[in-house]
Amino acid sequence: MVSDQDVLTALQSVPGPDGKTPLPQSGALAGLSIKDGKVYLSIAIDPKQSAALEPMRAAAETVVRKLSGVANALVSLTAEMHPAPPPAAAKPAAPRSIAIPGISNIIAVASGKGGVGKSTTCVNLALGLAALGWRVGILDADIYGPSLPRLLGLKAKPEAQGRLMQPLEAYGVKAMSIGFLVEEEDPMIWRGPMVMAAIQQLLREVAWGELDCLLVDMPPGTGDAQLTLAQNVPLAGAVVVSTPQDLALIDARRGIAMFNKVDVPVLGIIENMSYFLCPHCGGRSDIFAHGGARHEAERYGVPFLGEVPLHMGIRENSDAGRPVVATDPDGAHAKIYRAIAGQIKERLERGRARVAPKIFIE
Ligand SMILES: Nc1ncnc2c1ncn2[C@@H]1O[C@H](COP(=O)(O)OP(=O)(O)OP(=O)(O)O)[C@@H](O)[C@H]1O
Ligand SMILES: [Mg+2]
Repeated sequence: MVSDQDVLTALQSVPGPDGKTPLPQSGALAGLSIKDGKVYLSIAIDPKQSAALEPMRAAAETVVRKLSGVANALVSLTAEMHPAPPPAAAKPAAPRSIAIPGISNIIAVASGKGGVGKSTTCVNLALGLAALGWRVGILDADIYGPSLPRLLGLKAKPEAQGRLMQPLEAYGVKAMSIGFLVEEEDPMIWRGPMVMAAIQQLLREVAWGELDCLLVDMPPGTGDAQLTLAQNVPLAGAVVVSTPQDLALIDARRGIAMFNKVDVPVLGIIENMSYFLCPHCGGRSDIFAHGGARHEAERYGVPFLGEVPLHMGIRENSDAGRPVVATDPDGAHAKIYRAIAGQIKERLERGRARVAPKIFIE
């Protein structure tokens, strides 16, 4: 049986689109799937270069076909970071994306709905995992609305280290965001395929070093862009953030269904802005009703990871680049985030991530 690794080793002898860097390191490999000895490989390129890069495509096909155990190889050039589709007659093999050397687990932090506190949760979970002794990185995959620079209080530009970019670092975690490379006010007018290419670069052309976990702060929504991302980033699992009200939960459900579709295990749901404790009287108000996400998790057989309250301190600190887990590690909120991080870590370590039952929502 031919493996992904066999194919990648063979492709070392084929220079990528720049004519120098071997294909596997070029960042251009967009998808690889192997089914019954047939290898489908797609290489993402600038469509204007498709004629010039035809010899590269043919060379890749030739070296893969020579491998023992390969019945046939189909290499396609694509403008999008999509895996090459197998022929219609064949049952589609699950698309796989190529692992990143040195990174043990890549986890998506997602929500169906925008503004539910995904980025805030992502940063605090990253710091929680770091507090538990893990080497952690955060990738901001929200190209249109990057928030990592603000949430981590980072303003510097990443430096180049040979062919790779050096990630920035804050509070002991590494970070990469398009927001480090462009000004906050610059409009992002990129279209879908370019966005995916940019994310692949932020993921693969960065000197992350050895990481136990890379958290990917996903853009909001469950559309094509998010699906492509979930498919093309080698995810070990996903965490879904929701607020308790019905509308957000419907979107969270779509998020779970999306990850199911691409066979990414949902590690659990977090209820953010779960309840409000009045700083003046200490009374508690369930502003968006409470417990909806726990209920939803039970309903779909997905682990429920915890409740984060709606609190002025979380917002103020977060938006000022002082995430609470790092700046108030003994506080009640840090404790909540660390407890959730602990559950995620345990699940990943035991490799017991439960795959939620399949739900399809049209
Ligand atoms: N538990 C919380 N308590 C108080 N404020 C919070 C909490 N979680 C997030 N916020 C605030 O809510 C706002 C939105 O949060 P955040 O940017 O993390 O959401 P998001 O889901 O990433 O949004 P987007 O969909 O735009 O990416 C921010 O101002 C943040 O500080
Ligand atoms: Mg966000």
